[in-house]
Amino acid sequence: MQIQAAIAEMKKRENAVILAHYYVPDEVQAAADYVGDSYYLAKAAMAAEAETIVFCGVHFMGESAKILNPSKRVLMPELSADCPMAHMADRRQIEKLRAETDSLAVVCYINSTAELKALSDVTVTSSNAVKIVRSLKEKNILFIPDANLGSFVAEKVPEKNFYFSGGYCPVHASLLAADVAAEKAAHPGAEVLTHPECTEGVRALSDFIGSTADIIRRAGESGAESFIVCTEPGVLYELRTRYPSKRFIPVSMACADMKKNTLEALYACLAEGKGEVRMGEEEMNAARRPLERMLELAK
Ligand code: 13P
Ligand code: SF4
Repeated sequence: MQIQAAIAEMKKRENAVILAHYYVPDEVQAAADYVGDSYYLAKAAMAAEAETIVFCGVHFMGESAKILNPSKRVLMPELSADCPMAHMADRRQIEKLRAETDSLAVVCYINSTAELKALSDVTVTSSNAVKIVRSLKEKNILFIPDANLGSFVAEKVPEKNFYFSGGYCPVHASLLAADVAAEKAAHPGAEVLTHPECTEGVRALSDFIGSTADIIRRAGESGAESFIVCTEPGVLYELRTRYPSKRFIPVSMACADMKKNTLEALYACLAEGKGEVRMGEEEMNAARRPLERMLELAK
């Protein structure tokens, strides 16, 4: 039996739903019931009715699914798939700034551990960060962990004062403005579509900045016929499927952790119940409020 058919059979047997991020391998996106950006997947996980949620992504995504829908069994094809940026903030910095600063909100990118979320007032994703930060009553914002997304939000919300923890996505931060400039010179007329985890230098060369889902939407709405894509190349699978007559030029390296989600690992996790996300009640309860607040404010 083909592995795709075996996965479909196991999914039925286990009463499971498969969620996948746009950065996982193409064939895993094709096997999933729901594919999307972090915000869409958090909502899909919370609404899931199946007994088991299989989350093809990185660890913070499985954790968020468990926190938002705790009665479900959450499995991940590869539990070691972890976003390095999720750890790039420090409890002491947060506590010190809270003690020293009036009117401070700690805003935490969803790419973060449950521990960091629990120390925060609200979480955000790349698709709702500007809207949520703008809506907060506090004047001062400590934005953790991604300083690149944070500086993008700061540009859009100049009325607030920002502090950063200095974290970054190693994939997006290694995408060089010089490489984007070279692709622009080689493809005049191509539109540059960029994820806000990229550096300021790359963002300055871009025509459009948004989450993976925003980038996909923009490519459909734009009159351009070719696009330089400044985000993880997994997104090209959806772009090429939806818009076969348009041309997409990748410039980013791949995210090694997202690529751990192979079809074989997906099958094994369903067949053997491997890779369950386990969290303590207290840990989940502490991180739930900032996630739920995001869902309320992003509506
Ligand atoms: P989005 O899914 O919000 O576009 O974020 C991309 C990302 O890096 C997820 O790890
Ligand atoms: Fe983390 Fe970057 Fe990989 Fe997204 S692309 S999971 S932010 S390392």
